Amino acid sequence: MVALNTTVIAWVIFAVILVGWIVYFFLNKASARRELGSEAEMAPNRRTYYDDDVLEGRRLERMQILGVLLLLTLVIGLPAVWIHEPARQAGAVAGKNERFRFWGEELFQTTANGGFNCAGCHGGLKATGGQAPYAVTDPNTGEVKAVNWYAPALNTVFYRFSQDEVRFILQYGRPFSPMSAWGSLGGGPMTDQNIETLLVYLQSIQIKPTAGTCLTKADFVDKADPYVCDGGTLPQTNKDEITNAVKAYQAAHPGASEGEALFNSDLSSGAYSCARCHTQGWSYGDPGVTAQGGMGWNLTGGSTNAHFPNETDMISFIKAGSQMGKKYGMQGQGSGRMPGFGHLLTDEQIKAIVDYVRSL
Ligand code: HEC
Ligand code: HEC
Repeated sequence: MVALNTTVIAWVIFAVILVGWIVYFFLNKASARRELGSEAEMAPNRRTYYDDDVLEGRRLERMQILGVLLLLTLVIGLPAVWIHEPARQAGAVAGKNERFRFWGEELFQTTANGGFNCAGCHGGLKATGGQAPYAVTDPNTGEVKAVNWYAPALNTVFYRFSQDEVRFILQYGRPFSPMSAWGSLGGGPMTDQNIETLLVYLQSIQIKPTAGTCLTKADFVDKADPYVCDGGTLPQTNKDEITNAVKAYQAAHPGASEGEALFNSDLSSGAYSCARCHTQGWSYGDPGVTAQGGMGWNLTGGSTNAHFPNETDMISFIKAGSQMGKKYGMQGQGSGRMPGFGHLLTDEQIKAIVDYVRSL
């Protein structure tokens, strides 16, 4: 459509110029002096010009007025452009964001709608969480099994990961799971530009925090990580969903603590849980020993307590998550793949989880 318009406009301009040249050609030809014998008329440089009275009178004044008018145009015009400049720049950024968001949405669409099917696995365009069909092979028996793998809600992904961390996930995927590497860095089909537009789209579908000023449109591209500002917390409806999920888990598993329920919560396809990364097989309904390790470390048998002799250190680690290259606990070095839960869960909920993990 755009290409078509540009082509049409180019043809119109071309036609106007062509007609202009033809008209000019004939007018010029008509007014042109005959070549031979036309010197009979006196050459212009030898004719007498206006005398001084004319030159220093109205003619001069007209030129001076013209000069003042041009000066006025500059004096008024330049500041007018300058005053408008910040708004113009903001408009350019907003326009770019909107285009990126739109392109990202096209990539995010289901296969049927011409996209890369993020929506198909992650629960629609709003990415509220879904399941992905997958085949797992038993390493011992070689038996292949069809399973459904939880694909976590992404409308809170910037509450747990920074922009760089999400970019890494999109580039390299999760190699053991249905989440394939999408970026060219990981061997996937998408360019870096595709990944950037997807990031802008993901930012646009985040649940808006109740407190804090971030997560507005203007913040999407230029603000530093992480995207949810200090003080930004989930709206009450989402908090209620979490407490209801805890109650539902406790009803199904009598005697389960709040920490155990939160650790294993399948709410929003595991978006709020720990088990999807720390319990092998949990994501596809065939969990091994709880917390004995998957993509995230084994948290049982006291190793975690050895890594975090101090409970408060462990609490702050879980609130912030790991960061690429940064030290955590006694001797841990983060990769950025452990999400932060400080913006998703309350301090009491995180304390309950930590107490549960430390008892394993
Ligand atoms: C075939 C299904 C499938 C498709 C298609 C898919 N994903 Fe995923 N995605 C998953 C699964 C399953 C996981 C969770 C993997 C795990 O267990 O760690 C995941 C994880 C993620 C995560 C990490 C979330 C977190 O909190 O750990 C992000 C971000 C993500 N996907 C974005 C995308 C985007 C963007 C696209 C489209 C380019 C996409 N996914 C396409 C299945 C899919
Ligand atoms: C998206 C996957 C993922 C989720 C969800 C997740 N973790 Fe992790 N976790 C990791 C990874 C990966 C590491 C290893 C550190 C790294 O690579 O940065 C880790 C490390 C840890 C460690 C440090 C272990 C050690 O001994 O060094 C603890 C403790 C931990 N996670 C607890 C939790 C708790 C509690 C939750 C839920 C509130 C949770 N994790 C949710 C992926 C995850």
